[in-house]
Amino acid sequence: MSDEIFKYSSKQQGIVTSLPLPMDQESDIVSLRPTRLTEYIGQSEIIETLKIAIEAAKKRGDALEHVLFHGPPGLGKTTLAHIIANEMGTCLTVTSGPALEKGGDLIGMLTHLEFGDVLFIDEIHRMPKTVEELLYPAMEDFHIDFIFDKGVHARSHRFRLKQFVLVGATTRVGLLSAPLRDRFGIFRSLDFYNLEDLEKIVRRSAALLNLTIENDGATELSKRSRGTPRIVNRLLKRVRDFSEVRSDGRITRQTVGAALMLEGVDEAGLTPLDRRYLQTIIEYYKGGPVGIEAIAATLQEESDTLVDVVEPFLLKSGLIIRTSSGRKASESAYRHLQITRPPDACRG
Ligand code: ADE
Repeated sequence: MSDEIFKYSSKQQGIVTSLPLPMDQESDIVSLRPTRLTEYIGQSEIIETLKIAIEAAKKRGDALEHVLFHGPPGLGKTTLAHIIANEMGTCLTVTSGPALEKGGDLIGMLTHLEFGDVLFIDEIHRMPKTVEELLYPAMEDFHIDFIFDKGVHARSHRFRLKQFVLVGATTRVGLLSAPLRDRFGIFRSLDFYNLEDLEKIVRRSAALLNLTIENDGATELSKRSRGTPRIVNRLLKRVRDFSEVRSDGRITRQTVGAALMLEGVDEAGLTPLDRRYLQTIIEYYKGGPVGIEAIAATLQEESDTLVDVVEPFLLKSGLIIRTSSGRKASESAYRHLQITRPPDACRG
């Protein structure tokens, strides 16, 4: 076993070094994720904030302040956590709110961190309250208090931690308690990517995968990717398969159109679930307003999935409107689904 592999496996599972591992170098899997801030496309203000904060922390010989990223799935929150550890030259430990069931789960991770190491907690809003409360002194003063026994026999022992960097990610910043939110020094929201940035991302990914993509192929794919790099990269792979099997391998506007029709992705990038969601509001609830729980029950989907995954892009593209009495379909939703709006439907 080489030194590098030993170093990895000797630490606990979930710890990622910023060094490339020998087995990664041999792997056929090409990562489409940028690993450096200079490679990152889009979110320019966030990238600038991070460049400044990282350079300043390095100059002072300090660890970076804790960072909170908020935004819909697939926009780069996890990628940025990897990049932060890479840029700081430290190790990254990855976990998620629901995985931290007990205080002990968090303590185990915190006590393994070295100075400047990054702890990334995805879906941090789903962390149990007892675990969250342990995190407050850990974030603020870099210590945790172990409590032994209960009642009159209770004793506590203070354990000092190395100065670590917490990177939290959430799709629902509203669900974070104020004490947790306020302990992050840097808090940034990621927004959907514009067409120009998505086209750059898809060209970069195509080059990494050794694919030939025509300009209008890149434009068409970007238009149908809901402003989301994860989606543009996923669809690129579907179009690659299609173009290799049904055409000469080049990715063109035509192969993108044909491949995405098979995927059920329409010209605006809406998926079958997006369209079912809109149809439910329009056909079942007369255009709304309707509450999310009623839509979820009709669709037999989790309301969390609808709120986190489906709604952000529909809101951004103006297909739905959120009011205090519920969700309404807009004029453009009717147009998009080619449904005639009844004259008495609420104006959106
Ligand atoms: N791949 C996925 N997201 C990316 C981004 N923001 N920049 C460059 N490549 C990416």
